[in-house]
Parts: sequence; structure tokens; C-alpha cells
Amino acid sequence: MPTEVAADASPWTPDSWRRRTALQQPDYPDPAALHRALAELRLLPPLVTSWEIVVLREQLAEAALGRGFVLQGGDCAERFADCSSPRITNMVKVLLQMSLVLVVGAQRPVVRMGRFAGQYAKPRSSEFETRDGVRLPSYRGDLVNGAEFSEEARTPDPQRLLRGYERAALTLNFIRALVKGGFADLHHPEYFDLDWVRHSPLADEYHRTVETIGDSLRFMEHILGIRAGATDRIDFFTAHEALHLGYEEAQTRTVPRRPGWFNLATHFPWAGLRTNHPEGAHIEYLRGIENPVGVKVGPGFTREHVARWMDLLDPRRAPGRLTLIHRFGAKSIGDALPGLIEAVRAAGGQPLWICDAMHGNTQTTSGGLKTRAFEDVYSEVEQAFDIHRAMGGKLGGVHLELTGENVTECIGGARGQNSQDLARAYESEIDPRLNYEQSLELAFLIARKMKNEGR
Ligand code: PEP
Ligand code: CO
Repeated sequence: MPTEVAADASPWTPDSWRRRTALQQPDYPDPAALHRALAELRLLPPLVTSWEIVVLREQLAEAALGRGFVLQGGDCAERFADCSSPRITNMVKVLLQMSLVLVVGAQRPVVRMGRFAGQYAKPRSSEFETRDGVRLPSYRGDLVNGAEFSEEARTPDPQRLLRGYERAALTLNFIRALVKGGFADLHHPEYFDLDWVRHSPLADEYHRTVETIGDSLRFMEHILGIRAGATDRIDFFTAHEALHLGYEEAQTRTVPRRPGWFNLATHFPWAGLRTNHPEGAHIEYLRGIENPVGVKVGPGFTREHVARWMDLLDPRRAPGRLTLIHRFGAKSIGDALPGLIEAVRAAGGQPLWICDAMHGNTQTTSGGLKTRAFEDVYSEVEQAFDIHRAMGGKLGGVHLELTGENVTECIGGARGQNSQDLARAYESEIDPRLNYEQSLELAFLIARKMKNEGR
């Protein structure tokens, strides 16, 4: 059934967002060139299908009802330069490994959603950046302009929309081929071992987890005579912030034999904190598509906004349709989340609850680098579990910025990475990510938390 529109809402079309205030859109010097690029984008084949979108929506509904857990993770900002075999493979490996660890802890299916294949556009707090008296447009992600501090790189270039779409297609194509080709076959967890696992203090625990899964699989197959079939291959879904609305609109389509409109550039688009105003263009865009959609929620939300999100995005209150991704920070979640949960209940909502444990925990070192402390990230997740539970609900997933690479962007974790270590391998253009070891460690802690609580 197509998504209903709220009773008081005006008719929705893929471009009805253009009648609203659209924050965070680039200022292209040549609107005709933008128009041409979007026209070309409209003709390209989609990246995902409506079948997959429907499957994801069903899986998210299960998670919203407490019968699944979502791992959403990847780069803060994907870079065109990182669209390479080793980078993509490592990202898939770390997400796979984390999800296996989580399955054992959660004792329920884990849905894997990558912040990849389209996570190329970034909101910025300032329009401009000034260095040594030179003022240029801020870097808004590779979909819009280049990170290099030069007039040429920083000028928004509509051709980047096509380059981004193509790279998203390459990324997804490779991930699908890896998964289909047996890379993610649970009979062969050694395929997705990362080199470091052998040297890590977490290696033994990880391998024990994988053995447990292998044993269960063999038990099912040999003793019960069931071929694991679909369960031994692992799906990945894609997600990105639906920020650049021209890009999203260009892939918003109808399909034969299914009512409604689908964003076929991703399975799961979400509205970021800076563009989540209920009357703004981004929520207007999201309200009319059939995809499951997310909204980031942070400090400063109001009860009125919450009720309005529900009415606009999920008028039927259908589990799986709407995900609220809260990102308050370890210090504020205790004060803020109960009020959010109450406001959602008052509006009759049944969203999937996901904790983004990154964006409320950003700090700047004395050396001027953005970082996050592993301990804050875990503390926010742990508090999120406790608060949802205390209020009779359930945390349904986590949203993380992470990478399969050995970067030094976040401090803390088992290796005790400190702020002096950060300069060694700091790559992110925007936000600091957990490296592979911190990511896996976090998965273990979350799994332990879920296990101890019998959830
Ligand atoms: C992000 O997810 O990278 C981001 C910018 O988050 P938020 O919108 O929550 O600030
Ligand atoms: Co970020």
C-alpha cells in the first residue's frame, strides 16, 4: 500500500520540495549546467530495486517490534578517491564481522546498512571557510565540490553529481558481487578476516564467536538436515543522508506493478539534523516516497516537531516506515531521550529507534583536530539501551561512523589511542571515524550488553 499523506498536507510530487525552504543546497554558478546534469541523471538506470526496498522495510519493521537489530555504519563522508577494491572490501569486512558479533549477543537477526554508495553530500555549519584571509565556499562533500582549498576545487560542479552516482553504482556493484560470489559465506569466515585480526588483542574472542556461528550452521545442516540457504549469505543495504535534493529527486521513480514513488538511488535515505525541520524541503521530499526513511534527532527537538514528523512521514504509524536516529551525546542523552520517547508515544508513534553514538560526542583537541572518545561512544549506546528498556521499549540499532582502515581519528579503546596519536593516520575530511579495531571492540561491548540483558 502506498504511503498515505497527512490529512492536511498539500499534494506531493517528487519536486514538491522545491516550494519549501531547502537548506544546505549548493550554490551552483551555472544553473543551466546543473539542469543538464540532473536531466542526464534522470535517464540512468537505478542503483536499487523496489523489491529490495520493500524487503528492507519489512526487516526494519521487525527491528522496530524488537525482533531484529540494525547496524548502520560507514564513512562520515565517502570520497571518490576511496572507491577502490581494498577500501570497499575492508568496509564490507568490518561491517560483516561486527554484525556476526552482534548476532551472537542480540540473538536476533542483524540488518546491515552501510553508509555507502551515495554518502557523498555533507551539511556544513558555515557557507564559507577562510584561511589566511582567503574566503572560499566550504567543502560540501565530493558530490558537490572538492576538499582542496582552491577556488577551482571549491566551486560547486554539477558534473560531480554524475561522477558520484557512477561511483555509487561501482561501489554497490562490487559489494553485490562480493556477497554473491561467496565472500560473505558464513561457512568461510576466513574470507572476511582482516589481516590485523591475527595480531589484535580481540582476535581470540572474535574467532571464538565465529566458531560458535559455524557450529550452529553445521548443526542445522548436518544434524537437522536443513540447508542454511538464504541464511548463509548476507545482505547489505545502502543508506545515505538525503541532502542534495536535486540528486534524490532525479532517481525518484514509479515502478511497474507497485504503487507509489521510490527513491531508487538508495534503500534508506535519512534527513540530517540540520535539515530535519518538519516544514522544510527535506521532510517534504521524504514524506512522499515508499522507502523506509530516517530522521536524525538531537538537542532542541520539540514535542510539536515530533508530532509533525509522525503525521507527515508515518501517518499510518506503520512499523518499519520511520526510524528515529537520536544523537544527543553521552552527557545529554540521559536528560533528552526520555522526553523524546514520551513525545513519540504521545503522538502514537512506533518508530525504529537507532542510537547514533557519534555526532553528539565530537570534540576538538588542543591541536585543532576533531575527535571522539571511544568511551563516550560506548557510554551513549549503553545509556540508550538502559533508557529504552527502563521506559518499556527497546533500542533497535546503532548508527556509527567507522572504517575498515587503520586510521587514528577517535581516541580510546583497547589500544589506548590518545590525542598525540591522532596525527599519524588522520584521513577524514569531516568527522572522525572509529577504526577497525575500535569498531570491533564496540561490537563486542554492545553484544555483551545485549546478552547480559537477555535481549
Ligand atoms: C552525519 O551523519 O554525518 C551528520 C552530519 O549527522 P547529523 O545530521 O546528525 O549532524
Ligand atoms: Co558525520
